[in-house]
Amino acid sequence: MIAAVSREYRVLSVIEQANAGGGSAILVEIADRIDDFGPDIGRLLISVSYETDERLHLMITDADSPRWEIPFQLIPRSMDGNSSSARFSQEVRKITSPKLQLSYTVNPFSFTVTRVSNGEILFDSPSSSSFVFKDQYLEISTRIPAQAALYGLGESTRSDGFRILPNSTYTLWAADTGADNTDVNLYGSHPFYMDVRSGGQAYGVLLLNSNGMDVNYEGEFLTYKVLGGVFDFYFFAGPSPLSVVQQYTALVGKPAAMPYWSLGFHQCRWGYKNVSQVEHVVAEYKKANLPLEVMWNDIDHMDVYKDFTLDPVNYPAEQLRAFVEKLHKNGQRYVLIVDPGLKPEKNYETYRRAKEMDVFIKDVQGKPYLGQVWPGPVHFPDFLHPRALEFWTGEVSRFHKEVPFDGLWIDMNEASNFCQGVTCTLPANVTCPIPGSFTQCCLVCSNDLATKWDNPPYAINNAGTHRSLGGKTIPTSATHYNGTLEYNAHNLYGLAEAIVINSALKTVVKKRPFVLSRSTFAGSGRVTAHWLGDNRASWNDLKYSISGILGAGLAGIPMVGADICGFSGNTTEELCNRWIQLGAFYPFSRDHNDFFSSPQELFVWKSVTRSARKALELRYKLLPYLYTLSFEAHTLGSPVARPLFFTFPNDRATLDIDKQFLLGRGVLISPVLTPNATTVKAYFPQGTWYSLFDYTKYVTSPSGSYQQLDAPWDTINVHVHEGSIIPMQEFALTTRLARKTPFTLVVAFSSTDSENSTASGELFLDDDDALEMKLAEGKSSFIKFAASSIGNRLSVKSRVSYGEFALQQKWIISKVVVLGLGSFALEKQQQELVNGKTLLPQSADHVEEVNELNLPLGKPFHISLKMASYQ
Ligand code: NOJ
Repeated sequence: MIAAVSREYRVLSVIEQANAGGGSAILVEIADRIDDFGPDIGRLLISVSYETDERLHLMITDADSPRWEIPFQLIPRSMDGNSSSARFSQEVRKITSPKLQLSYTVNPFSFTVTRVSNGEILFDSPSSSSFVFKDQYLEISTRIPAQAALYGLGESTRSDGFRILPNSTYTLWAADTGADNTDVNLYGSHPFYMDVRSGGQAYGVLLLNSNGMDVNYEGEFLTYKVLGGVFDFYFFAGPSPLSVVQQYTALVGKPAAMPYWSLGFHQCRWGYKNVSQVEHVVAEYKKANLPLEVMWNDIDHMDVYKDFTLDPVNYPAEQLRAFVEKLHKNGQRYVLIVDPGLKPEKNYETYRRAKEMDVFIKDVQGKPYLGQVWPGPVHFPDFLHPRALEFWTGEVSRFHKEVPFDGLWIDMNEASNFCQGVTCTLPANVTCPIPGSFTQCCLVCSNDLATKWDNPPYAINNAGTHRSLGGKTIPTSATHYNGTLEYNAHNLYGLAEAIVINSALKTVVKKRPFVLSRSTFAGSGRVTAHWLGDNRASWNDLKYSISGILGAGLAGIPMVGADICGFSGNTTEELCNRWIQLGAFYPFSRDHNDFFSSPQELFVWKSVTRSARKALELRYKLLPYLYTLSFEAHTLGSPVARPLFFTFPNDRATLDIDKQFLLGRGVLISPVLTPNATTVKAYFPQGTWYSLFDYTKYVTSPSGSYQQLDAPWDTINVHVHEGSIIPMQEFALTTRLARKTPFTLVVAFSSTDSENSTASGELFLDDDDALEMKLAEGKSSFIKFAASSIGNRLSVKSRVSYGEFALQQKWIISKVVVLGLGSFALEKQQQELVNGKTLLPQSADHVEEVNELNLPLGKPFHISLKMASYQ
């Protein structure tokens, strides 16, 4: 902790049009200097502009020397200011955008950000709290009122759950620490939080800074303690939680378009010994009648763990290629792993080419830094190097000719290093890696040449032990291209790699790329999916996965999942059973485990197979809905898996719910997360919720309530909320086949107000081979559905934009299921003709079905039916 002395900066002058955005700036000068953690920076320039109605940008930097800022090439962001009519002056010490206002005091300097509509203070950095600006230490606090509900500041596994509770510290420093370690910094860094205040009004705060930091939330204050860079703050006005994420991603990058197939089920493990074993797994899935969309390989396929090589004995190129081609013929896909470190070995061509291009990170002596990962000694590529893209595209391209993979998995990119030291060498006559002990460091490392970048004066709580910044990673005195310090760019390594690999895949495969990255930063969602890393096969890890997934969605990475059934340790039949039920509804659904644990494919236990089949069958039926959400994510930034408060921000009870989640606006997932349970206590916000497994079962919750539900071994509870129309298709073993089946619309009305009820939904479809995911005639279709039940008339209709693509595909809606007509039923013999056919509705247990429709999806339709009292 820094000494409790108020650091008083005072306003020196007001400068107009100082920043690129045409905003306003003030110059402040420090009054009292304190030399803990190094000398203070005496004069600061504070620039403010509002870039959109909802976004306010405040940058505090050294007025006299340039400082490290996140390169625009990694996070392209607009600097277009909008504040030409709102400048600071000596008299007017505020800037007001339509939604947010920033005001400051002069002597001492302090500032607040308030919501214009109600005057509520959102960010409050009073002069009584610390404000420090030094070369290697920055500190700022904001006062947090009691009614705040904070979320974000990933990535960590939270023992407290999704909501940030007082007396916690979040350390942001990318680290290869297993996700089974709670409350410590993990693989990614997301200096963004959301606060949901009373009335469900939310706002967001991003500190766009890539340096290591601790963020303390003591209860009254939230304090940033940062190791460098600048205070580059963005405030997002919301006011709905969903709009906060949309505004945030509008700045850092909207999530990547995902191929349709990536929404299918994935099987992976570390330890598939050879191609035959992988073939066997694929065959067993088929035998068990379980869907398997994507087969994966971990590092096992490599020749002694070298990227872009194949083990000549166990994964011979010809056999592997034939296997992948067969997968493709069956409508399945193949993804494999690439790690960043390249082994400096004589006849290793990939390394030779990298060396020639000189695309490695350098140590303090200017030599490629030597670390150790799976292949033994490695040099780490520099993804900030201007030739990085050329190099990686070349390697991906060569390897793709050998093995026609569909996507790439980028792992160990924090970057992970099994050794630690400012400089390391490989001693002569040492076999590295040590056989049977791959993670044991076999290099000789030294810290003799350590600089101030290796040991900054303030030690963030890295790994929960204040471990040095270079622990298990590249030393922070190492440099990227042009002298960029690892100290500044460390947290950006995974993002920079994902940008390069995503782009390489576009060039090589020429289809919509699929990248899965372990390390992420703000904006990673633009180029990659994410999994939560090395969890454990434990009930706690099952539970924590929900907060992890919600956290990634909040951070703009909606395509996310956890290793289903658990990565390390042996899973059990019961745990795996419950995990696949939950995992079937992760946006990214992959079973994966480590080298040392026993097999856990979904066919291993009969009970698991049964549950998996049931849960995945629903997932596959929901694919059109999930894909539409993925389109919404790509175009608007909305998460796919959302906390309940995204739909029900006014229901304060939802603020603490992290054992359930929503897919989109209205599909509620309520898993079993404990052993020996056959019921689940689930929260239902206001309204009627229908089981998607059995439409006759529903829950009515007049004002939000917990309900006890049956959850036998083979069952997870999934409900749809009134007001939703869910487009579904039939189940099939691959998404290719599922996509050919007819559509069903499930229309959910309120069960308590069936004479005056409405519902809506939408559907996006395209050719997912296309690089872009967008509305374009002949290439995609977008359909809006609207239904109403007013008096005794039921109406279901569509509005079609870009119908051509759906018509080409000959998609039809064959069934409409209407839920919640209460005491009404559709009249049996309807006079209305749809497509020249008399409709014969069927009703059972308050579920009304109109079958045998043949409505072309690409054309608008209108079904209008009469209802009579329930017979
Ligand atoms: C670490 C990853 O987190 C894990 O998923 C993978 O199996 C191992 N590396 C081996 O590649």
